[in-house]
Amino acid sequence: MLYRDNPLKGVPWDDFQKLTGSQKAPLFGRGRRLYHALIAQQFDRPMLERLCELATKIRQIAKTRGGLLFLQDLLREKRAMLYFAQPSTRTFLSFYNAGQLVGLHLAEVRDTATSSEIKGESPEDSVRTFSSYVDMIIMRHPVGGFAERIAWLLSNTDRPVPVINAGSGKDQHPTQALLDIYTLQRSFEQRGGIDGKRVVFVGDLARGRTVRSLAWLLTQYRDVQQVFVAPPELQIGQDILAALDHAGVHYELTSDFAQTLPAADAVYMTRIQDEWDQAGESGRIDTSRFQLRAEHLALMKPDAAILHPLPRRAEIAAEIDADPRAMYWRQVRNGMWIRAALLLVIAERDGEADRYHDDLIS
Ligand code: NCD
Repeated sequence: MLYRDNPLKGVPWDDFQKLTGSQKAPLFGRGRRLYHALIAQQFDRPMLERLCELATKIRQIAKTRGGLLFLQDLLREKRAMLYFAQPSTRTFLSFYNAGQLVGLHLAEVRDTATSSEIKGESPEDSVRTFSSYVDMIIMRHPVGGFAERIAWLLSNTDRPVPVINAGSGKDQHPTQALLDIYTLQRSFEQRGGIDGKRVVFVGDLARGRTVRSLAWLLTQYRDVQQVFVAPPELQIGQDILAALDHAGVHYELTSDFAQTLPAADAVYMTRIQDEWDQAGESGRIDTSRFQLRAEHLALMKPDAAILHPLPRRAEIAAEIDADPRAMYWRQVRNGMWIRAALLLVIAERDGEADRYHDDLIS
C-alpha cells in the first residue's frame, strides 16, 4: 500500500538513476494519478486528452466573474513555491498566473544569490527548506535531472510534495510540450486532430529541451511524422531517435529547411541555445538557413501552424506574426490554461471543475 502511495520511497538513488525515462514514469505517479510532473514520458494519450479538455473547460469557466471566483476557490488553501534558478519570464509568469487563476498562494525564489545557497547550502537543502512551507514546488534548473533528484529526495522524507519541472537543463521542458500539444490540437481541430500530421522541427534541436519533450509527446498520436531540420552539429539527440524507433515513428533528418515546408502541417521553430556553448561554437555555424522568412509563407500549406516556444530571435521574421498560421502568441495564452489544468489534476481538484462546467452547459 505504501509502495503504491509513494513508489519513489525506498528506491536507492543509484538504482533510480539507471532507469530509462519510461521506467521512471510510473514512479512519479501515485496509484493511477499524476503526482510529480517531471518528464514527457509520464503523459500518455488519455492524460494528454484529459489535460487539453480540462484546459478548455477552465477557459470557458473563466469567462464570467462567477466562474473566475469559483476557480479561485479551488486551491485557495494551498501554497506553491516557484523556484526558478535559470532565466525565465514566460514560463514563470505562466505558472504564476495559472496558479493565481486557481487560487494558489505563491512564493518565489528566482535568484539563488538571494537564497542561502550563497552561504554554501546545497541546492538540495535549499529546496527541501522551501518544501517545508508549501504544498507543491514548480522549478526550473540549469542541471538536467535536478527536478527528478528533488522529487526523489522529497519522496524519501516524511513530507513529500509534488514537484513540477518547468525546464531542466538541456533535457526536458514537459509543460511547454503540453501547451504545444494543446495548441496543435486546437489548430487541427477541424482537420482530425494531431493524428496523421507532419511536424517539422527547426533550429537547435541538440540543446532545445522543448523539442525533446514534444517529440516524445507526439509519439502518443497515430501516424505523426517528425522531421528534424538542423545543421548537423545541432541535430536532435540519438536518445530521442531511439525512442522514436522504439515507438515505430516515421522521422527524417535534414538540413534543407525550404524543402520541408510544402508538406509540413506544423513548423516548430526554435532559437540557437548558445548559452550552452563551450567556446562560442554555434556562432561559427551558418544558422541563417534555419529562419522562417516572409517569402517562405507561399511554400507552406494554407492551414499549416507555425509554432515557437519563445523567446525568438531571428528565427521568425516579425512580419509573419500577422499571418493567420502564426500560433506562437496563442501558445503563450494556451500555456496558462493548460498549466492551470495540470495544477488542478495534481491537487486532485479537477473533478470540481468538471462539475461546475457540466452545470454551466446544462
Ligand atoms: C524555452 C526554454 O526555456 O527552454 N523557453 C520557454 O520556456 N518557452 C525555449 C528557449 O529558451 O529557447
